Amino acid sequence: MSTATEPASAPARCAVVTGAARGIGLAVVEQLARDGLRVLATDRDGDVLQTEAERLRGQGLNVQAAALDVQDRSAVAALFATLSTIDVVVNNAGIASTLLPFRELDAARLRSMMGVNLLGSFIVAQEAVRRMPEGGRVVQIASRGYLGGSGAAHYVASKAAVVGMVRAMAIELRWRSITVNAIAPGMVDTRMLEGFTPEMRRVLEQREPAGAAASPQTIADAVSFLASPRAAQCNGQVLFVDGGKSVGMPPL
Ligand SMILES: NC(=O)c1ccc[n+]([C@@H]2O[C@H](COP(=O)([O-])OP(=O)(O)OC[C@H]3O[C@@H](n4cnc5c(N)ncnc54)[C@H](O)[C@@H]3O)[C@@H](O)[C@H]2O)c1
Repeated sequence: MSTATEPASAPARCAVVTGAARGIGLAVVEQLARDGLRVLATDRDGDVLQTEAERLRGQGLNVQAAALDVQDRSAVAALFATLSTIDVVVNNAGIASTLLPFRELDAARLRSMMGVNLLGSFIVAQEAVRRMPEGGRVVQIASRGYLGGSGAAHYVASKAAVVGMVRAMAIELRWRSITVNAIAPGMVDTRMLEGFTPEMRRVLEQREPAGAAASPQTIADAVSFLASPRAAQCNGQVLFVDGGKSVGMPPL
């Protein structure tokens, strides 16, 4: 786990994390709080979120929680209006689905995937940057999957779209010294993998360089860096956290 990065005398920066009730989002909340930030954890599953936030506060961490569906523009705007500043926003909320051949994909599934993964990220990022001071940080959780893959055209399309949005935002926001970057995880051990049968999961894990799904903490560590003042020169980038599978696999 990373050590605290915030100067002791400065007021704590404020971070908002979406999809924070479990998995990668929850690990990000804990890491940013350990880094010394005030963290507002949000998730559409408000009950689990409150329990987790209470647990983290019990460890002395500065974590508040609020139920929030990232697709609900007025709820996002109303919640953010209660914050004096948003220094960091981590767009993590996302959905996947069971594998589905392209020929069987229908518009409703594509729309639903785009609704959370792209439109939800757009709404949260837009409302956040309106309140973001110079030096702000937008971190988007994308996926290595955006490079392509079979049986998930709707997921791939949604993650490729958020990477495109990140690159465009990075150019537009740099004059305010706000950086916008994406993280592209490989396979991570969260409930998102529950959509796979145990056999399918085993096969997929064997294809990872480490032979296993990574822990959510590996993604939280990458977020910790990109959210920090140390990452001021990283902008418009996609950081793959996937053991290097994205650059290719060695011959058998
Ligand atoms: N697990 C992986 O292998 C993997 C790999 C690459 C990328 N990712 C990405 O990482 C992110 C986090 O995934 P995870 O693996 O922790 O999944 P997860 O399913 O464990 O957690 C996702 C969280 O997002 C919340 N959420 C879903 N829709 C929401 C909405 N409309 N509004 C608010 N919250 C919502 C869920 O309630 C849940 O708490 C996602 O964007 C996912 O696409 C995951």
